[in-house]
Amino acid sequence: MQETILILDFGSQYTQLIARKVRELNVYCEIHPYTIVRSLENGVGGKSLSELLTPNSQLKGVILSGSPFSVRQKNSPQPDLSSIRGKIPLLGVCYGAQLLAHQCGGEVQPSKHREYGRANLSFVNNDSLLFKNISLNSQVWMSHSDTIASAPDNFEIIANTSDVKYAGFHIKPVGNLPRRSDDLRGESNGLKGEKTFGIQFHPEVYHTTEGLTLLKNFVVDICKCSQSWTPSSFIETTIAELQHKLGNDKVVMALSGGVDSTVAATLLHKAIGKNLFCIFVDNGLLRKDEFKNVLHSYKDMGLNVKGVDAKKFFYKALKGKKEPEAKRKAIGKTFIEVFDKEAKKLGAMSSELGVKRKKSSNSRLRTQNQIKWLGQGTIYPDVIESISVKGPSATIKSHHNVGGLPAKMKMKVVEPLNSLFKDEVRRVGRKLGVTENILGRHPFPGPGLGIRILGDITEEKVRILQEVDHIYIEELKSAGLYNQVWQAGAIFLPIQSVGVMGDERTYENVIALRAVTSTDGMTADWCHLPYEFLSKVSNEIINKVKGVNRVVYDISSKPPATIEWE
Ligand code: XMP
Repeated sequence: MQETILILDFGSQYTQLIARKVRELNVYCEIHPYTIVRSLENGVGGKSLSELLTPNSQLKGVILSGSPFSVRQKNSPQPDLSSIRGKIPLLGVCYGAQLLAHQCGGEVQPSKHREYGRANLSFVNNDSLLFKNISLNSQVWMSHSDTIASAPDNFEIIANTSDVKYAGFHIKPVGNLPRRSDDLRGESNGLKGEKTFGIQFHPEVYHTTEGLTLLKNFVVDICKCSQSWTPSSFIETTIAELQHKLGNDKVVMALSGGVDSTVAATLLHKAIGKNLFCIFVDNGLLRKDEFKNVLHSYKDMGLNVKGVDAKKFFYKALKGKKEPEAKRKAIGKTFIEVFDKEAKKLGAMSSELGVKRKKSSNSRLRTQNQIKWLGQGTIYPDVIESISVKGPSATIKSHHNVGGLPAKMKMKVVEPLNSLFKDEVRRVGRKLGVTENILGRHPFPGPGLGIRILGDITEEKVRILQEVDHIYIEELKSAGLYNQVWQAGAIFLPIQSVGVMGDERTYENVIALRAVTSTDGMTADWCHLPYEFLSKVSNEIINKVKGVNRVVYDISSKPPATIEWE
């Protein structure tokens, strides 16, 4: 069992950041919607905490997130916190803190002063374990339109700002709250029994300068987490879990050349060896030489991988299609068909095989050899999105184009990375020895160059764009700019322009170059690449790639534009 901090999500834009920061402290945490705890109002829904806190539970503490709601609103989230308080350390952040005050009979009102942005702590009780080593005047980040106006006497103020009286508080116990035996140790820690705290600022954001110290105080000193969750411990436990779960079963998996599927496959390979069957499909829309090079790397890594040249099926399915969504659908559908066919050859359980058959000895043998599992490189943000308080429809991107696979194939899914953030996947990959060439690579869309050739796709356009893209990416690398850019690529525009080469007039294709900085692809800014660099790349492209006579640079941010043009 893993020591775990539970983060109850009330829909704040910062909930994922809390998880990121806790993980940075080498402490494992999970985000769950607040609805997993029984509602105060009608006593329905969710589990009671006693179901989560089984006797040998490793749940070490709970953090309540912020929220776009106000506790004063009629339909605001109101889980019954009495089932948590006193049994396990609890930290309410912003809405979470106001919820504690509200449920204890305090008063939460609209703020009279501006309580957004920067503020400084004007009082800090360093004797309180939560504010240990936090400096007076330390900068904190506020983002709330409500404030706690009054609270019961047992709310001890442990930090404030000039405008926020209850910037930090510790709830002292009243009456006989049920406790776990280890809570008694809190008495000698100056915690006076109940380990319930609230802060009305956000420790998880960058602008709260000592936020990480505060979170460390909570998870390490108060919750007593051992900070043992590291890439190595993750690898060790995941491999053991996979071996236990899969036994001698076989797994089939699609590889894309990207970080997530590669790291997931490497973990599975370490767990079950040759029982993992990987398929890497050439859809004819990859970067220049990508299929050959990546397949080579996979084989070097010892993966049991089959490369499938399916270019002609994709080009056929795309023929005459101009509209981006139609192209995405054609690419997604063809991918599933190709993968399904290959997986069946390997013995994967398909939709037809799922149907009951007469049990001949042959079919019994076939059943034994069937591949029942589909491996996927799903990562934690995808999981959070699908269980988000905001609801899946508000957040999931329509372009998760392999989403149709498990349903079609009627297989059980195994996702070894579904508890990790992207940077953690990279750290795990590094520890597993995955090559930097794969780990450091820019994101690349599933439909590949198919959505970077605007309008219809032909083999000739793919060839031109591959050459251009290759020059651009290699130049970025040799100028030392590749790692400063989050994502870069070239776009084939559906127009031609007049040019002059030597004494001849040309009428050829226009290429747009795109490079962005970002952290997650949700927002992005265009990259201010040096003019000299752009000038060199433009010359190289026009001189070396036949069919191109003009290069432009995209200077749009996201929003309002998107990273890809289609
Ligand atoms: P946008 O264009 O939406 O892109 O700003 C955000 C990130 O998503 C990638 N992207 C895709 N990835 N299938 C994918 O697997 C797609 O259809 C797709 N469309 C965009 C894009 O490259 C960027 O990293």
